[in-house]
Amino acid sequence: MNWKIPMFKIYWDDEDVRAVNKVVKSGMQWAEGLSIKEFENKISGYIGVKYCIVFNSGTSAMHALLLAYGIGKGDEVIVPSFTFISTANAVLFVGAKPVFADIEEETFGLDPEDVKKKITRKTKAIIPIHYGGCPCRIRELKKIAQEHNLILIEDAAESFGANIKGKKVGTFGDSAMISFCQNKIIATGEGGAIVTNSRQICEKLKLIRSHGRLETEDYFTTMKPLDYVSLGYNFRMPSVIAALGISQLEKVENIIEMRRKNSEYLNTSLSQETGRIMTPNPPDEYFHVYQLYTIKVNKKYRNKLMQHLASKGIMTKVYFQPAHLSYFYKNKLKYKCRLPVTEKVSKEVITLPMYPMLKSEEMDYMVKEIKKVLR
Ligand SMILES: Cc1ncc(COP(=O)(O)O)c(C=O)c1O
Repeated sequence: MNWKIPMFKIYWDDEDVRAVNKVVKSGMQWAEGLSIKEFENKISGYIGVKYCIVFNSGTSAMHALLLAYGIGKGDEVIVPSFTFISTANAVLFVGAKPVFADIEEETFGLDPEDVKKKITRKTKAIIPIHYGGCPCRIRELKKIAQEHNLILIEDAAESFGANIKGKKVGTFGDSAMISFCQNKIIATGEGGAIVTNSRQICEKLKLIRSHGRLETEDYFTTMKPLDYVSLGYNFRMPSVIAALGISQLEKVENIIEMRRKNSEYLNTSLSQETGRIMTPNPPDEYFHVYQLYTIKVNKKYRNKLMQHLASKGIMTKVYFQPAHLSYFYKNKLKYKCRLPVTEKVSKEVITLPMYPMLKSEEMDYMVKEIKKVLR
């Protein structure tokens, strides 16, 4: 579909092209290469942790991380249902059971009170997400994880650069996952990373990422036989992609600032609709990076509003349809959950287009068309 205003546009420049070209033109090392280590060092430096290991997607990164923590059959992991399905699926990949907990309405992240209720003797970990760029109640969740001796893994796929009082998401839990999929804060098409302060987890992740191979040297350029010491996958990020990531990272502050400015513009323009629209309203000292700009409206008007905007060439989307109500979890896995806030919110949310280069005229057009339906 050719949208007048799509959901997102990637922010890119000639430096991105140059960075990719440089690796391509080397005619070597398109898979493993120097840009991988450089990207990892830059990401860990930016987030403020000791280690970063990049992957070919956020999903494979999370899969590898759960394996690295030894989570598997007989274990339970608490996750939101109000998320991209991959958060829950990663738990299934390792043979463990995702247990859905409800969310709270301010951040759309896991509700600490409901998480407490979902803890059993089998619970091994909690995986909260920072929804659409807004930190969740991660400090409260950390306290719960510590009290119950649980692993806390942040799904920070959507929230690169978000922080609470300057402390970046990704530094609260034991480890965190980031995604560089095309609609994220910085994008490499596909790609992901794990950030952690644990050297042990970092070493395990390197093995899982690349066939269980002890990479004492570059496999593709050494004649030495390298040993295989555990089971592993090919979850590697290509170095062409890492080069693009490095170039994207150079622009991250600018990207976040533009997203925040645009979100503020929309907040102000939609503020006269108080009562009809709830605009994003993160708690004080929560630094939202607006990977998504999600509003809430009365469920009576939600679908009508989406249809009207679509007819005007404005794309919108429901982030998220609850995972526990998907065909797979409901019908195949026979999940039956009581998640009243998740189910209510998923009927009220509309995610509007949001990206750095969104123009004020485009936002005015969006607001004008929204008002037509709501009045
Ligand atoms: C909350 C959340 N978790 C996990 C993922 C998976 O990341 P990826 O698409 O890089 O595999 C995404 C990205 O779409 C996401 O939004």
